[in-house]
Parts: sequence; C-alpha cells; structure tokens
Amino acid sequence: MLKKSGLLAGAVAALMLASAGAVADNKVKVGVVLTMSGGAAQFGQQILRGAKLYLQDHPESLGGHEIELIIRDSKRPGGDIAKTVTQELITREGVDILTGYVFSPNAMSIAPLITQSKTPTVIMNAGTAWIPSMSPYFARVSFTMWQAGYNMGLYAAGSLGAKTAAVGYTDYPPGKDSLNAFKTGFEAAGGTIVDAIPMGGPREVPDFTPWFQRVKDAKPDVFFVFVPAGNHATAVMKTYDELGMAAAGVRLIGPGDITQDTKLQGMGDAAIGLITIHHYSADYDTPANRAFVKSWKATYGADTTPDFMGVAGWDGMAAITTVIRELDGKIDGDKAMAILRGWSFADSPRGPISIDPETRDIIQNEQIHKVVKRADGTLGIEVIGQILNVKDPCKELKIGKCAN
Ligand code: PHB
Repeated sequence: MLKKSGLLAGAVAALMLASAGAVADNKVKVGVVLTMSGGAAQFGQQILRGAKLYLQDHPESLGGHEIELIIRDSKRPGGDIAKTVTQELITREGVDILTGYVFSPNAMSIAPLITQSKTPTVIMNAGTAWIPSMSPYFARVSFTMWQAGYNMGLYAAGSLGAKTAAVGYTDYPPGKDSLNAFKTGFEAAGGTIVDAIPMGGPREVPDFTPWFQRVKDAKPDVFFVFVPAGNHATAVMKTYDELGMAAAGVRLIGPGDITQDTKLQGMGDAAIGLITIHHYSADYDTPANRAFVKSWKATYGADTTPDFMGVAGWDGMAAITTVIRELDGKIDGDKAMAILRGWSFADSPRGPISIDPETRDIIQNEQIHKVVKRADGTLGIEVIGQILNVKDPCKELKIGKCAN
C-alpha cells in the first residue's frame, strides 16, 4: 500500500479544503430582515413574495450560483430587534449580503454593524432620506420620503391650486421627513402650512378622529397625510370618509403609501378622486408591469396584488443577483458596493430605475396617481402625470441631515 508522505498528505488535505471552499463559495448567504409578525407582517410578506418571485422567474440571474435566504423577523419598528437579528446574521450565520428593512428605525439601527463588518445591504423599504448616508454599505432600491413628499408639495400648490395645507404624519423619522419634504415643496411654490400634526407612533393604528376633526375645522385646501401604509392607510381613509371631509372641501393628498394597492379595494368610494404621488402601482400599463402582475397572481393567487413593497422586493433581488453574478459568487463588501453604485435596471415593473453612484439612493420616475372607479366597480389607479428621473430632493437641496 502506498504510504503518503507528510507533504503529500498535506497537499491532499489542502486540495480537499479548496474544493470544499469552492462548493461553499457557490452558495451565497443573504440575510433578510423583515417584519414577519403582528400588524406589519403584511409588509414582510409583500417584500419576500416580490424577492422570491424574481428568483423564481429568473433562475439564470444567479449565474449558476446558489442563494440561501436566511430570514429573520424584526417584529416592531423600534430598531432594537432588527439590530439584534442583524448582528446574529453577520456573526453567527456569516451572511454575505443583507436586505429587507421595512421601518426606518430598523435600517438606521444597523448602520454601525454593516460599516464595521463591510456587509453590503440593500434596503427594500425604509424611506427616511438620509439613511444611505449613515453607512457606505447601504444601497436603497425603494424610495425616499422626499421623492413623493416634495413633489406633492410642488404639485398641490402648482397644479391643484392649493393655497393652504395641513399636514398629518406618523410621529417617527419618515413621518417627520415627509412633513419637511411636503412643506419645502409647498412653500417653495407659494403655499402656506396652517397646521402640522404628529399622529401617534407607527406600531398601533391610532384613532385618527380628533386630529382629522381639527383639520376639518381649520378647513385648509389640502390635507397631506403620511402614515406607514397597511392598516394605518385603511384607517385614514375610513376617518376621512366618516367625518365627511371631502364634502367639507378638504382635499386629502399624500404619498402613495395612503393608496397602497393591497389596501385600495377596502377604501370604498370615499377614495375616488384622491391624488397621490408615488413610484409604483399594480395598475401601470407597461409590458414589464403586466408580466410582473400576471406572474404574481399566477403564483400567489388571483385575488392578490403586488404593491410598492412587493416591487421593491423584486427589484432588490434583481440588484442582489447582479452582484452575485458579477462577483462570481465571491462577495466582497467593497466590490459589491462598487457594482451597486450606478446599478441600473431598465425593466423594473415601476419603469427604469438606477442607484445614484454618489448617494447610493434610488433614482426613479414619480407618477401622479388618481384613484378612479373602474367599469367593473373596483377601484384603480390612473396615472395623470409623471416626473422623470427623480433623485432624492433632500440630498439634492442639501437640507438638514441631507447636507452631510
Ligand atoms: C419607513 O419606516 O421608512 C416606512 C414604513 C412604511 C412606509 C413608508 C416608510 O409605507
């Protein structure tokens, strides 16, 4: 029997390690941190469905590599659980890439962790403008509160002819950001803000009645509302309807978070005519979106619909698979960020998008949405205007924390 020399045995062991490494290299670990329980579970489900659908429909996008999604529940918006599970994903699971993050405080809480570990992180929702500035390892594929809010301010004063506005916002970073965004645009176009009302936190859906009554009494031309979509949006519409605010001459406007596709059918006729600004609706009549919605319904059920969170999951996975392909499955934080900076995707269901190489934030079209009643009696979104290639206005104008 051939006796291996010490040297040969060492070489064989090294070879085995190398091939074991090569196998392991094929599998890219992606940590996905989303709200998967409680009232915000619907957001985690939307985003995950979008991300998984992209992988299902584009198996070739991985360039022959395998992807493992390691999913963790961030539960609430406060940031503490998101930080704990992200730490665990980095240190124990050894993830190559992080993604998800519905609520702004959750994304904010992990900035030092991803900087220290150089983990590329693709934000799929959290919209407070300056989040990507908190770590060079953030890139955002969702939106910034300013893209809709600032443009809604300009549009309300310029095109809707509003002279006065009240603002109601959920009292946490993206809500305050939305107030600043709308105010900056509205005042720049000659409007006056008559009231700005913090309306509770993001976790529990509050009773909006006292705040809405206060606005009804003040009778501004428009009432700009930001709430973090979901059950909050449904409650906003219900309260607006119950108080008869439309008949009283107060026009409700906001970002598309308040007319989320998944919530639209439950809003009733009070929503008809509502104007919002956003970057996505399932009703967009483009080949890319028709194909996306068709695949979504075929996969998840005819009575389901994607919304702006679902499309961020889809687009985020398009970005992540680009990184995996281009780095041939060997993820290096700095090389991954170099790919994400300037990444563009012409075929997103929302239209062409790209990541600004300087800010690592999304550049996308914003659409003026009008809620209409379709021939079959359901509610739909009609696009009545468009603002092309919108960079985050907060960073463009260098306002507040966006100045850094
Ligand atoms: C956020 O926390 O940044 C957030 C959550 C839900 C939204 C928009 C923004 O609809």
